[in-house]
Amino acid sequence: MFDLADVRFMPEHPDHAPLIAAITDEAFGPGRFVRAAERVREMASHDPALSFVAEHGGAIIGSVRLTPIAIGRAPSLMLGPLAVRPDYKNRGVGKALMRLAAEAARDAGERSVILVGDPPYYAPLGYYPLPPGSVIMPGPVDISRLLGLPLADGALAELVGKVGPRR
Ligand SMILES: CC(C)(COP(=O)(O)OP(=O)(O)OC[C@H]1O[C@@H](n2cnc3c(N)ncnc32)[C@H](O)[C@@H]1OP(=O)(O)O)[C@@H](O)C(=O)NCCC(=O)NCCS
Repeated sequence: MFDLADVRFMPEHPDHAPLIAAITDEAFGPGRFVRAAERVREMASHDPALSFVAEHGGAIIGSVRLTPIAIGRAPSLMLGPLAVRPDYKNRGVGKALMRLAAEAARDAGERSVILVGDPPYYAPLGYYPLPPGSVIMPGPVDISRLLGLPLADGALAELVGKVGPRR
C-alpha cells in the first residue's frame, strides 16, 4: 500500500538529472520541446536548491524545478516541469512538491512564481491567472494557462514585460 508518509522529498542533486529527464519525457513526450515554457528554460538554468524530487522505495517518482527569470525588470521564478510517474499519480505527490518548492522560494526571498498549466490544478495551490498582455513569453502560449503565485504583497502586479534571464 502506498503511503505519502513513506515518500522522501529532497532538493535536487546532480545525480538526479537523468532520472528527472526520464520522468519528464514519460509525462510530456517529445512535444514538450516546442512549448513556450521550454523556451524559457533554454535561456536560464534551474536552481537545484529550489528544485525537488520525491523518492519512494529507492526510486525517484516525481520532480519539480524552479528557474530564476526576469519579467521586465522584476525577478521571478518559472516553475516546471512538474511531473509524477503514472503509477503514483493522484496520491498527493504533485501537490507536496508544489508546496515544497513555493516554501523554499519564499524562504529564499523570492517574490513570485509563474507557470503555464491547468488552472483547476494550480488555483488551490494559490496561483492566479496573470492579466492578459502583462507577461510576454518567448513563444505562443494559451493566455488562460499563464498563472502566477505571489510570495510577497503586490508581487504579481510587478510582473510586466518580456520573460528573459536575470541580469
Ligand atoms: C499533473 C501532475 C503533476 C499531478 O501530480 P499528482 O501527484 O498526480 O497530483 P496530486 O495527487 O497532487 O493531485 C491530484 C488531484 O489533482 C487533480 N488533477 C490532476 N491533474 C489535473 C489537471 N491537469 N487539471 C485539474 N486537476 C488535476 C486530480 O484530479 C486530483 O484531484 P482530487 O485531489 O480532487 O482527487 C501529474 O498528474 C503529472 O505528472 N501529469 C503529467 C504531466 C503534467 O501534466 N504536468 C503538469 C503540467 S501543467
